[in-house]
Order: sequence, then C-alpha cells, then structure tokens
Amino acid sequence: PPTGLEGLDSVTLTRFVLHGQRKHHDASGDLTLLLAAVQLACKVTETCVRRAGIAKLYGLAGSGNVQGEDQKKLDIIANDTFKVNIESSERCGVMVSEEDELAIVCTKSSIDGTTGKYAIAFDPLDGSSNIDANVSIGTIFSIFKIDDPDSITDAKSAAAAISQPGRQMVAAGYAMYGSATNLVISVGTGVYGFTLDPSLGEFVLTHPDIKIPSRGKIYSVNEGNAKNWDKATTEYIQSLKYPEEGKSSYSLRYIGSMVADVHRTLFYGGVFIYPADKKSPNGKLRLLYEAAPMAFLMEQAGGKATTGKTEILDIVPEDIHQRVPVYMGSSEDIADFEALASKYA
Ligand code: AHG
Ligand code: MN
Ligand code: MN
Ligand code: MN
Repeated sequence: PPTGLEGLDSVTLTRFVLHGQRKHHDASGDLTLLLAAVQLACKVTETCVRRAGIAKLYGLAGSGNVQGEDQKKLDIIANDTFKVNIESSERCGVMVSEEDELAIVCTKSSIDGTTGKYAIAFDPLDGSSNIDANVSIGTIFSIFKIDDPDSITDAKSAAAAISQPGRQMVAAGYAMYGSATNLVISVGTGVYGFTLDPSLGEFVLTHPDIKIPSRGKIYSVNEGNAKNWDKATTEYIQSLKYPEEGKSSYSLRYIGSMVADVHRTLFYGGVFIYPADKKSPNGKLRLLYEAAPMAFLMEQAGGKATTGKTEILDIVPEDIHQRVPVYMGSSEDIADFEALASKYA
C-alpha cells in the first residue's frame, strides 16, 4: 500500500545531474552548478505562473522586445528570474535571451575572476499568447561550451561565442508549466522527463529515456497561415488530411505554445511544424532558444528536425535572434515530408 513517502526515494533532477557528473571523471562540476541555477529559475517561474491570476501578473508589461512583440508581465519576470539565477551560478560566461537584443556578458567569478566556460540561450517564457487564458506555457534553454572564455569582452564577442551549431550543444531542455510542471532535459545521453512534486518542491524522474514513436497520427501547425504556405508544406498537410484509400487521416492539435506542442509530439508522435511562409520568409521560431534545443531533444529521442532544406542542428547561427522554418517529430513522418520537399527543392 502507498506510504505517502514514495517521492522521497525517487531520483530527483539534482541527483540525476550529480550522477552524470560523477560518471565523467574530468568534470569540474560547472555544468552541474549551471543546471542547478536553471532548475531553480524554472521553480521560481512556475511559482509566478501558478500565482499569476491572484498576484495580478497577467497582461502586458507595456514594453516591446527586439522581436517586435509586446512583452507580457510574465515575459519580463521570467527573463529577470533566469538572468539573476544564471549570473549567480558564476559558471556561465554568456547569456542570450529572446527578450534581450544583445548577448549578455556575465560577471566574472567572485572567487577567482575567471569567466564562466558555458553559454546559455533561453526563451524565458514560451507561449506568451496563452498566458492570460491559463493554457500551458514554458521555458526553453540550450547550453554550449565556450571555446575561449577569455575572448569574451563585449556583446559582439559574446554573441560569437554562442553562435555554434546545435550539434555542439552540451545540454538542452524545457520546462512546461501545464497541468503539472515537467522539466525535460538531455545532456546528450537520451531524453529524461521530470515532474515537479509540489509537496517536495523537487523535480522527480517520471519519464526515463523518452523515445518518440517512429510514426504518429497527429499534425500540429497554425493552419490559419495556410494561404501563405509554400507548395511542399501545402501538399504535405493535404496528404495528412486526405490520405490514400485505406489509410486514416491525421488529427490536428495546435496549442500555440511550442513547448506544449513539442511535448505532446515527443510523447504521442507525429509532426510539429512552423514553416516559412510568404509573410515570414524564415518562419517565426528562433534558432538558438527555440528550434535548436527542441531539435536536440527530438534527435536524442529518436526523432528528426529539419528546415526542409537542412537539419536544424547543422545550422551555424548568423544572428542570435535568427529565425528558421521548423519541421520536427517522428522519424518516418519527417522522412515523408523531406521526400516531398526534395521534389520542390
Ligand atoms: P514566445 O511566446 O516565446 O514569443 O513564442 C511564441 C511561439 C511559440 O511558442 C509558438 O509555437 C508560436 O509562437 C505560435 O505562433 P502563432 O501564434 O503564430 O501560431
Ligand atoms: Mn515572445
Ligand atoms: Mn517561444
Ligand atoms: Mn518567449
């Protein structure tokens, strides 16, 4: 019978990360400290999200960001929360956020004056349009190692240090503030899903070694933009809705928070798409803090992620806020799309 203490002997995220560190004999513990800061920032953000209606944190902040978007109060709160916590870890040399135009140079270590050897890019609050309706939102992050931390002196050198292809990522993950709070992470050895136990305030391992089904039955795209799609996207979505005789059509699910749409796609399979279109020639989603970390998780889970022309993880960023078209999900579904896209290449 349940004792009520089950959570206490579970694998927490902290234990999981420390275990990973112990397996690498040359690990300094810096990534562990940075991930602890990210974990705490997710918990703080989740607390703000859960209390937002009561604490009057819904609505606009009255400011805009470099993306041309109106910022919500929670966009700013989450951004400040992540920046403060990551800075405090003193293990990070560079931060890039959706909400800040320039790459940020972190302060040097208060102990030995060195610059942190990691760089992090984050979308502090993903799914802003869903905040006020209490629909799932999240946070996305990607972490890279900096080749030469001493070279970082200003925003330009900071941006250069993090402009690495997704394949060089050392960790990526997201938190989803949904009906429960999940933190899904990969350090390059598979994908692990944790659930926040509210009574403990700890992320507990609930989904070890997540694998995406090789084929799904769901497509996820903002179909309201269909009139502006290119031929490959139009034909592909048409093929899911009107399949050949004997095959069933796919279901449509679209939340409008990348975190929630990708989370469902990881578990149920299928495709998540944000294509380029006539109005947005590079699509909407940003490479460093949306497309690449999710592509990393997808590939680690056995799925695929492409722009239709190249694998997302192969792209070398030219701008920290660069946008890319996104097609990701089950390997067989994405292979179908790629076959179709190559017809129009
Ligand atoms: P953000 O809230 O961080 O700006 O991201 C919004 C993104 C992403 O979460 C989602 O997939 C997409 O915008 C939805 O866009 P549409 O409203 O155009 O469908
Ligand atoms: Mn935004
Ligand atoms: Mn986002
Ligand atoms: Mn955002």
